[in-house]
Amino acid sequence: MNIKIIGTGSAVPKLRVTNDDLSKMMDTSDEWIKSRTGIRARHLAVEESTTTLAVDAARAALNMAGVTAGELDIIISATVTQDRLLPNLSCELQAALGADRAFAFDINAACSGFLYALNLVRMYLSSGRYKTALILGAETLSKIMDWNDRSTCVLFGDGAGAAVIRAFEEDEKSGVLAALQGSDGGKGMVLNCRNRPLNNPYVDHGNEVPYVHMNGQEVYKFAVRTVPKAVAQVVEEAGMSMDEIDLFLLHQANYRIIEAAAKRLGQPMEKFPTNLQECGNISAASVPILLDEVNRRGMIKKGDKIVLAGFGAGLTWGAALLIW
Ligand code: COA
Repeated sequence: MNIKIIGTGSAVPKLRVTNDDLSKMMDTSDEWIKSRTGIRARHLAVEESTTTLAVDAARAALNMAGVTAGELDIIISATVTQDRLLPNLSCELQAALGADRAFAFDINAACSGFLYALNLVRMYLSSGRYKTALILGAETLSKIMDWNDRSTCVLFGDGAGAAVIRAFEEDEKSGVLAALQGSDGGKGMVLNCRNRPLNNPYVDHGNEVPYVHMNGQEVYKFAVRTVPKAVAQVVEEAGMSMDEIDLFLLHQANYRIIEAAAKRLGQPMEKFPTNLQECGNISAASVPILLDEVNRRGMIKKGDKIVLAGFGAGLTWGAALLIW
């Protein structure tokens, strides 16, 4: 038994905020942001929420797959910015879609979340017990940014990406051929965000609002070291050579990180489509939104070999190699 992505979908908020827009609110510039990251704009939620973006992305993916919500066995959302602690985003999504047969839960592996979800459904579906799953990355990161901290808030955006996954009998060489996940909790504090503080009859930390804190240079070093290694590992595991890969869809955090990974892998940048210029970093949603964009643009054809890779807070990373 193997698994295939049979539909993709994505959604971003209506409001597009350029670097110039930000420079009117804080001490930054288009030149600084663009030269260090490649980011030109991002979408920020005003009327949307993590749930509405997730619902829109999920509907688009189900539509493309020609699958009804009632056929879904599993819904897994990767997010760090679900709208409620309870119920989870996946259950809210289940209710909105009417996916009555599915079981639904969220995972948090930050920007690697979609890769973790993909590998998780691979395990579930390969058991033979379930047939169809919906996985998502969905975020409204703008609500956990400190808008007085120019070194973090300019990097991130909001949006959601989804994929419908189906189990199939392995009669041909296609589907997900290799996948890996990794974590290094010891370095977790380089990119962190506290939850609500303790508050009970014995301790009261008041109304402290927690925001994301990041040591950008440490995260950068981690990414350029880890991503090429993870990509090389799944390519080797699938018994392929790097030159055989048609597309590398990497987490969209920073153009320089993607360039450094391409260089280390000895591959041309043409094989690394990007959308961070218009989206910024949308954590778990970044890889599935990019996948949906290249899919809808007709950039993927049957038989193409694609590597997906993510990295982020935890620290965590994940990669997968699939034949479309
Ligand atoms: N606009 C203008 N200046 C800014 C700024 C902004 N938005 N943010 C920071 N600066 C300033 C700093 O205050 C610092 O000024 P100083 O030298 O006077 O102290 C200067 O720019 C350089 O800051 P530094 O942090 O050294 O820049 P950098 O070259 O390391 O670039 C990042 C910062 C965040 C772009 C870079 O480290 C990076 O991309 N890291 C990876 C982050 C990432 O991808 N995170 C998500 C992973 S999932």
